[in-house]
Amino acid sequence: MGVPLLDLPRQHERVRTAVADGVAAVFASQQFILGKTVEDFENSFAELIGVPHAVGMSSGTDAQLAILMAMGIGEGDAVITTPYTFFATAGCIHRVGAETVFIDIDPATYLIDLTLLEQYLESRQRDDEGYLLTDKGARIRAIIPVHLFGVCVAADALQNLSEKYSVPIVEDAAQAVGAEFRSWATGEMSRAGAIGDSAYFSFFPTKNLGAAGDAGISVCKDADFANKLRLVRNHGMEQRYYHRVVGGNFRLDALQAAVLLAKMPLVHEWNSERRGNATDYRDGFTAAGLLDFVTLPAEPWYGRAVENHHIYHQYVLRAHRRDELMAHLQANKIGCAVYYPVPLHLQECFAYLGYQEGSLPHAEAAARETIALPIFAELRPEEIKEVVDAIATFYKG
Ligand SMILES: Cc1ncc(COP(=O)(O)O)c(C=O)c1O
Repeated sequence: MGVPLLDLPRQHERVRTAVADGVAAVFASQQFILGKTVEDFENSFAELIGVPHAVGMSSGTDAQLAILMAMGIGEGDAVITTPYTFFATAGCIHRVGAETVFIDIDPATYLIDLTLLEQYLESRQRDDEGYLLTDKGARIRAIIPVHLFGVCVAADALQNLSEKYSVPIVEDAAQAVGAEFRSWATGEMSRAGAIGDSAYFSFFPTKNLGAAGDAGISVCKDADFANKLRLVRNHGMEQRYYHRVVGGNFRLDALQAAVLLAKMPLVHEWNSERRGNATDYRDGFTAAGLLDFVTLPAEPWYGRAVENHHIYHQYVLRAHRRDELMAHLQANKIGCAVYYPVPLHLQECFAYLGYQEGSLPHAEAAARETIALPIFAELRPEEIKEVVDAIATFYKG
C-alpha cells in the first residue's frame, strides 16, 4: 500500500473553506503587505504562545536573522547553539558575522546538553565589560537552544544558566508551535517561545502550523525590542525612505497571515492527533518486540501535567542499521527521512570554525543512527500498523 511521510492535501481538506475565505478577504482588501490581517495574526499568535509581542516575518530564518540584528550581534560576538538542528540556526549566526559555538546534545532527547553548556560557560574568562569570551576572544551574546522535533529544552535550567552567566536566551521554536512545559520551580505551565528573552517560529508548509509558502514570526517579552524587530523587518524604516538602522525586507505577507489565522484554531487538535499517533507507535513497537532494535523518542515532560508535552513535529527513532532500515522502508513505499545526516559542525561551510569528526560525538551518532517516520495528524491507524509491520519484518523477518 505505502505510507507517505507527510500528506498535506489531507490536512488541507480540513481547512479548505476557512483558508479560502481568509484568502478571499485579503484579495478583497488588496492590502498585501503587513496591515490588519498580519496584525490580527500577530496578536492571536502572541496569545497562543503567552508572550506580549509577536512580529510576523517572511520565514523562520528571517525571524531569527531579525532577532540577531535587533540585538546588535555582529563581528567580534559569538552565539552558542546545538550542532544537531536545521542549517538556518547556525547559518544566521554566521550571516551576522558572529562566531558559532556548538555544544553537543543529550543523546536521549537530542536537545542541547545543558550540563555541557554550563561547563562551557563556567570555563570562560570575562572581558572588562563583563562579557564571557570564546577561545577566539569573541563576546558571547546569546544562547540559542532548539526545541528540536517538538519537545522543549528544560526551561528552568536554561533560565538559571541565562541569569547566572548573564547571557540572553533566543529560542529556536521553529518546530515547536504549541509545545508545553511546566516549571519545576513554580509549577507554572508555559509554551515554547515563552522561556527566553525572544524566540522565533517557522511556518514552512510542513510545520505543525504551516503557511502556503514561506512565513515565520519572532516573539519577545520587551516592547522596545519588539519595536526594534519591526524596524529591522522593514529596512530600518519607520517613516518611508528614512532609515534609522540597516534592516531587511523580512515582512510577513497578508496572504500567509490569512492562511495561518484560518489554520490556527486547529493547531492543538493537530498536535493532539500527532501525540496520539506517537502513542500508537509506542504500543505497536512494544507489542512487536522491537524495543531492542529501535529507541523511541524520549518524552522528558511526560507525567508533568502538561498536555502538549511533545508535539511531534517529527517522530524520530534511533535505529540499529539505520541506512539498511531506510532502504527497506523506501522499497516498501514507506516515507521516511533523516533529520539531519550531517551535523552542523561538520558542514563544509563551517570548516573554518575548527571542529572535527569526534568533536561532538553525540550529535554525530544521532546523525548516523536516527530516522524519522510518518507522524502527520491525519495518519490512519492502519498506516501506523503498516509502518510498524514493515520495521518488524526488517528486524525479525
Ligand atoms: C530548527 C529550525 N530552525 C530554523 C528553521 C528555519 O525556518 P524557515 O524554513 O521558515 O526559514 C527551521 C525550518 O525549517 C527549523 O526546523
